[in-house]
Amino acid sequence: MSDQYAVIGNPVKHSLSPQIHAAFASETGEEIVYERLLGDLEDFNGDVRDFFSRGGCGLNVTVPFKQKAWELVDELSERARLAGAVNTITRLDSGKLRGDNTDGVGLVRDLTENHGFDFTDASLLLLGAGGASRGVILPLLQQQPASLMIANRTAGKAVSLADLFSGQGDVCGCGLHEIAERQFNLIINATAAGLEGDVPAIPDTCLASGGWVYDMMYGKQPTAFVRWGEARNAGKSLDGIGMLVEQAAESFFIWRGVRPHTAAVIQQLVS
Ligand code: ATR
Repeated sequence: MSDQYAVIGNPVKHSLSPQIHAAFASETGEEIVYERLLGDLEDFNGDVRDFFSRGGCGLNVTVPFKQKAWELVDELSERARLAGAVNTITRLDSGKLRGDNTDGVGLVRDLTENHGFDFTDASLLLLGAGGASRGVILPLLQQQPASLMIANRTAGKAVSLADLFSGQGDVCGCGLHEIAERQFNLIINATAAGLEGDVPAIPDTCLASGGWVYDMMYGKQPTAFVRWGEARNAGKSLDGIGMLVEQAAESFFIWRGVRPHTAAVIQQLVS
């Protein structure tokens, strides 16, 4: 029988992960089965235990279970520990469950390898201080940018988040209204504002000339934040579809030890 994998979320029916992993499997010749699991909001742990007791090898975890997965696993990678969230669970030979978080590395890889962003001397602005933001901070700091500012509608949350990562690089937190005098080479939107077609309230002037804009969300149409960047002549104005595929590729690599090519899969999803 092929090795079993799945993505667990609620809702989960729109997840693109099965399509992405099927493409990786066919490209690499790995024999896997990858399904969708609708997680029980009241008994996520039971669903995970069931999946692994049936012989499952690995799970991707999506909204709203990433923090629950972090609490459930037996051990954590360093990046997952700091992210406070797990999006990849692997059953080890010992039977223990190991949690990892591939979101941040997915973002970084999309920026650097797919689009050629250079973090050297770059000043970064990360909008939002929820789970999505926290998950990408360590991998961003590991690129050694000049600085990382986290700005959030509720300033205190950004300040706390920055404190948590203060040992990892030049990072500070503030409210959205406090960024008026600064300019950034890369602005990443990790807020939920786009769910209502909204853009965080930041000044036009904070995008440096030629600076890039990256929305961690994606959709069939350009997101509100991608349009914000385009309207301000951003060097590039990107959505999160590449990050989605790259985080999946990193999970696939953890599970199978083979790194799939991503370009054709990204192309397939955007066309
Ligand atoms: P996630 O896990 O997706 O990050 P979350 O933890 O609920 O979700 O966090 C949502 C983030 O989007 C928060 O940073 C939130 O700001 P607050 O902390 O002030 O609530 C931010 N957010 C949501 N709607 C927003 C809007 N319209 N403008 C700016 N920020 C918004």
